[in-house]
Amino acid sequence: MTSVVSYDIQDGIAVISIDNPPVNALSQPVRAELQLLARKASDEAAVQAIVVACAGRTFVAGADIREFGKPPVEPLLPDVINALEAIPKPTVAALHGTALGGGLELALGCHYRVATAKARFALSEVTLGLLPGAGGTQRLPRLVSFETAIEMITTGKQIGAKEAAALGLVDLVTDATDVTAAAIAFAKDLVKDGKGPRPVSALDVTRHDPSVFDTARAKLSKTRAGQLAPLACVDALEAAAKLPFAEGLSAERKLFRKMMETDQRSALIHAFFSERKVAKLPDLEGVDPRNVAQIGVVGGGTMGAGIATSALLAGLNVTLIERDTESAERAHQTVARTLEGSVKRGKIDRATFETLMSERFRAESDYAALSETDLVIEAVFESMEVKKDVFTQLDRICKPGAVLASNTSYLDINEIAQVTSRPQDVIGLHFFSPAHVMKLLEVVVADQTSPVVTATGFALAKTMRKIAVRAGVCDGFIGNRILSHYRKAVDGTVLAGASPFAVDRALREFGLAMGPFAVSDLAGLDIGWATRKRLAPTRDPRETYTEFADRICEAGRFGRKTGRGFYIYGEGGPTPDPEVDVIIAEERKAKGITPRKLGDGEIVDRFMAAMVNEAARVVAEGIARRPLDVDVVLLNGYGFPRWRGGPMHYADAVGPAKILEDIQRFAKEDAFLWQPAPLLEKLASEGKLFSSLND
Ligand code: 3HC
Ligand code: NAI
Repeated sequence: MTSVVSYDIQDGIAVISIDNPPVNALSQPVRAELQLLARKASDEAAVQAIVVACAGRTFVAGADIREFGKPPVEPLLPDVINALEAIPKPTVAALHGTALGGGLELALGCHYRVATAKARFALSEVTLGLLPGAGGTQRLPRLVSFETAIEMITTGKQIGAKEAAALGLVDLVTDATDVTAAAIAFAKDLVKDGKGPRPVSALDVTRHDPSVFDTARAKLSKTRAGQLAPLACVDALEAAAKLPFAEGLSAERKLFRKMMETDQRSALIHAFFSERKVAKLPDLEGVDPRNVAQIGVVGGGTMGAGIATSALLAGLNVTLIERDTESAERAHQTVARTLEGSVKRGKIDRATFETLMSERFRAESDYAALSETDLVIEAVFESMEVKKDVFTQLDRICKPGAVLASNTSYLDINEIAQVTSRPQDVIGLHFFSPAHVMKLLEVVVADQTSPVVTATGFALAKTMRKIAVRAGVCDGFIGNRILSHYRKAVDGTVLAGASPFAVDRALREFGLAMGPFAVSDLAGLDIGWATRKRLAPTRDPRETYTEFADRICEAGRFGRKTGRGFYIYGEGGPTPDPEVDVIIAEERKAKGITPRKLGDGEIVDRFMAAMVNEAARVVAEGIARRPLDVDVVLLNGYGFPRWRGGPMHYADAVGPAKILEDIQRFAKEDAFLWQPAPLLEKLASEGKLFSSLND
């Protein structure tokens, strides 16, 4: 068996180095060898101090997530760390890259910590539905205040080396490129100065007000409603405050095991692995993307300006084209304003801002400026006519090999590609608003898009730190197509008797970031209205067309931007608009519907059934390659609760047969809307799960 931990003695300092690519996760062989070598270093008389380091790009990124859900195999991480901490010789962690989860816990089990200036730290377990399970909740509050420990552990947020040093988590921040060498030097100094072991577990917990835990619980019940792990983190921290170290550690272990059994843990880990799987496309293996350094953006409205900002922040040069110089100037100002925000939030410094605005970005009205760009993203009005006109010009001006992309939300990329002489270079790159914040990018592959161009779309996503999902061409691709369908179901729920506000509340309680009506108000009701008008000629006469949203638009109420939509946007925040109830009541009356009371459970069941049903069609048609691609889209672009893993994971958790039963029940009310997807019927009848299609 090849060794994953090496051992070397340099001038009396034992260097135990973990080498388990790609991220030095603490897999069972690592734990076993680490334990063995720590004992060896402890026993060997020639060893005066010990350095624990890592090879490769990072210190330990935590426990090996692939082992979760399987029976634990000894030695267990808390035991390895306790044994390391108990060594009667000073131990020093040499930290570079990211020390996350069990990685930071391992560092806390060392007596001293030396880090590079770029190193980052987090107890990130909560993001996987867990809590630190190897002493993190017990050791951290012996070094930092409980407020800080609660913040770090319940959010899983990373902190930099400077902050870690200020908090007392790190003893030395070094500029040296070789952190192991710096840690060895530090260890030698310890020996020279006669400094011995300094176990964190032997320290008292920091002074605190005992109410800090209940305050945290009250806050989390609002900000993280429905989530189990953040509260378990607080319970473990309270155990640290109330119990001696060893007892606190067993309380932490018990809570860790409990969280390991939850559906939320499995949902969050599904999300983690799915986000890494989406970019692994067998048809792109060995396909080299084109080089992209200079990009063009056509249209500097909401999306164009956001895409330009995002590209600038990712180090690309951007040329933005608007209709005229005035619009170009406006777009220039929008980008400047957004980047100013990045300066304020400390994401970039003032000098970088100046460089971006003066050297890397230009906004103008002459398409000729795009002649040397490697890739152009069109983000003009959502009109086929306007888009065709833009692509005709791009085809004329852009250099051979330039990728021509559209950010359209719904329109047919094949049709757009046909106006060019190079349909193989045309692709959809569908960003989400606000484009400099949202992580999702749908890479829409048209019939003639070449694999090199698809690979270039994925490479661009990586550069821009986006999560790219491959989508096929259809009205709305993956996300917006599913959205259009569940929006119809939601409107049907309102016609049946629920108010828009009751729907929003029930779905927020289910975990959605925002209810669908609040989302429509935010996006602008005119967008959906325009789409409905566009699709009106092709609408199936069997469809029950819901009209209340049109009535609201006809009154000139387009949502937040006009101060009124489904809600009234006043000083004290949004309030339900009573006139909306009147409009809805009139429509129910005209359609002969007697409204009934719908419980929150039914509202959620209808919403989820519609979402899963359309998603099943999207998968069956190959618009999404696998169910997990749908999950990643809904999680990262549509505010679906991450701790529920996405709609397909949710469907598997409740069972495809239950979703099908719901659909059959709702079909009694509207047989056209609630036609079961053949794939859902197949899985339900075979007793299979969507996840069986993920490989
Ligand atoms: N275990 C197993 N595999 C892991 C892993 C882990 N902890 N962390 C990352 N990987 C794998 C990824 O799945 C990916 O595999 P692939 O190449 O086959 O797709 C590979 O390592 C590289 O990961 P990324 O693509 O994410 O690389 P990045 O450079 O973008 O990010 C990272 C690196 C910041 C370390 C990121 O992977 C990450 O955040 N990892 C998870 C860290 C974490 O949450 N750790 C806590 C684990 S729970 C724990 O420690 C419990 C303890 O308290 C007992
Ligand atoms: P917008 O109306 O805010 O901006 C469009 C911009 O394009 C305007 O500034 C306009 O002056 C400019 N423009 C129009 N014709 C042009 C031309 N021929 N040459 C140069 N510039 C031209 O629209 P928005 O919201 O930015 O949408 C743009 C595209 O992005 C649409 O296709 C839309 O469907 C899509 N999209 C929109 C999202 C959103 O949330 N707003 C999300 C994802 C995609």
